[in-house]
Amino acid sequence: MRKKIALIGGGQIGQILAMLAAQKELGDIVILDIPELENPAKGKALDLMEMAPHGNYDAAITGTSDYKDIAGADVVIITAGRPRQAGMTREDLLAVNLDIITKVAAGVKQHAPKALCIIVTNPLDAMVYAFYKLTGFPKNQVIGMAGTLDTARWRAFVAMELGVSVSDVAGTVLGGHGPDMVPLPRLTTVGGVPLTDLATKEQIDKLATRTREAGTEIVKLFGKGSAFFSPAWSAIVIAESYLKDKRRILPCAALCEGEYGVKGLFIGVPVMVSAKGMEKIYEIKLTDEEKAMLQKTVGVVQKTVEETKL
Ligand code: APR
Repeated sequence: MRKKIALIGGGQIGQILAMLAAQKELGDIVILDIPELENPAKGKALDLMEMAPHGNYDAAITGTSDYKDIAGADVVIITAGRPRQAGMTREDLLAVNLDIITKVAAGVKQHAPKALCIIVTNPLDAMVYAFYKLTGFPKNQVIGMAGTLDTARWRAFVAMELGVSVSDVAGTVLGGHGPDMVPLPRLTTVGGVPLTDLATKEQIDKLATRTREAGTEIVKLFGKGSAFFSPAWSAIVIAESYLKDKRRILPCAALCEGEYGVKGLFIGVPVMVSAKGMEKIYEIKLTDEEKAMLQKTVGVVQKTVEETKL
């Protein structure tokens, strides 16, 4: 029997998620949106079914607004919520998206209580915390997609700057999904060569700043709405590692219970994603400077989380 992937939110990111999940044959796909947008969700599903002969994928793709249709899902990816408009911070979305996540959490808890849940909705670190609290799901079943995207952006910018293949750039970005996130140049390598040997401090600082502001750079270019291709693929990478037990080490927002000195918050840290979900958090020995940067981003996340009152 095929696996089942439920996409809660069939907007910009949701539709790319559906296309990628289909192309990768991750399983059958259900796109769920609000009742007013049930027909567009059905239309997108049908459009993707009609693309299958070219894409050579076998999957049942359907649209709905009824949570009953997500029953038995192996993975639920949540993008339901408003995206930023130019001039907004992610935190500006808190009230409206908390309301949406509250409804989504109830639906997923009732109809897909065993699914691995990947949250994409912003402000990410607070929304994944809220979803975890509201569902009461075990911590290994709830993952926030942010570090996977932030790291992809960091690797892309490093490759663009040095004129090398992005495939050879390895690195990671820790912390909350916002301008205080912590790229780690010290641990970034290009084909095994340390980045710090290949770029000046000034170049590295510029790359780090661009990474922290990458989402905002795109929001400014769009004017309306935020990035969708790279967030979608980043969530699919997590889903695929789970469904195929790839045991990839991916930076994700995971519940820290003492790791990195953080207690009770979801923070972007390297985790193993296996068939068990978020199987394990990896702790990196940080320098004092890196620790201070991490503390700052944790403080920002803590403040937003407190505003959820959960
Ligand atoms: N249940 C299901 N879907 C919902 C609900 C709900 N309660 N409320 C809103 N939605 C749907 C919207 O109708 C819309 O189709 O979520 C979809 C969101 O799509 P977009 O507005 O296109 O936003 P998108 O760019 O996909 O971003 C979604 O991810 O990265 C974050 O900041 C971004 O919070 C935003 C989210």
